Amino acid sequence: MNQSSFVCISDYSKEKILRILAKAAEFEATPNRNLLENKVVATLFFEPSTRTRLSFETAVNRLGGRVIGFTDSATTSSSKGETLKDTISMVSNYADLIIMRHPLDGAAKYASEVSSVPVINAGDGSNQHPTQTMLDLYSIQKTQGTLENLNIFMVGDLKYGRTVHSLLIAMSHFNPSFTFISPDELKMPEEYKQFCYEKGIKYTEVSELKDISQADILYMTRVQRERFLDIMEYEKVKNIYTLKNKMLDKSKPNLRVLHPLPRVNEIDTDVDENEKAYYFQQARNGVFTRQAIICDVLGLI
Ligand code: CP
Repeated sequence: MNQSSFVCISDYSKEKILRILAKAAEFEATPNRNLLENKVVATLFFEPSTRTRLSFETAVNRLGGRVIGFTDSATTSSSKGETLKDTISMVSNYADLIIMRHPLDGAAKYASEVSSVPVINAGDGSNQHPTQTMLDLYSIQKTQGTLENLNIFMVGDLKYGRTVHSLLIAMSHFNPSFTFISPDELKMPEEYKQFCYEKGIKYTEVSELKDISQADILYMTRVQRERFLDIMEYEKVKNIYTLKNKMLDKSKPNLRVLHPLPRVNEIDTDVDENEKAYYFQQARNGVFTRQAIICDVLGLI
């Protein structure tokens, strides 16, 4: 296994998280630096992406590196039956770093075990999305002034949403209180609730998006259509929650609405102009946090 890979948010201690966030702030102040001169970064996206891939590629370009890769595995030799192991071994020959998104839980960890260069997990199935979590933490710290003692409301698809799984683990360093808002079919998996229990983290579960008056962060998520085995089950829950501007009237002044995006219909567009809507700035923060992560993984900071 390549020791410097970043496949799981629990690879990072609290101190390391804070160090990376401080570096991200430096990159936000000065994004263009020649730290990746002569480095080649491979972006292997076996699943669709807009923000993650483009922000990673922007990060590499702003650091003076070069990008190779694919956005559709159907155009690669995977479609001829090449195994993930062989694909990763091959790409290790060409690039200094592999950034990979894959539909299977655990694929990034497996890739890191067979790769001779570091691997960054850009999302594996419904398991984890650790670099999204780092930009979420950066966004929370920036808007709240702290990561400590916050009320985090997570809304929507808490079963398949990999971003909430990684965020829950990362926030465990900072004494959070969670409110999980989901329908029965999409509840936070037991293993994460067990994790909260073992860490002494308070959480409550509700099924209605009604009282958000105590939230510091309202973390909306999309129902993950691509993870459902039965599309009729998706149809039952796809419109379960929609945040409307009016619902923010009685919220705390410091509340910020986050969403990893893409959104489908979980947030009405009339929320976009509300000063508490932060999801587009959140996506922008992805460039700086990913610059910091890439440099850390390559031992450049
Ligand atoms: N947040 C996120 O992962 O977005 P993309 O699927 O567009 O990369």
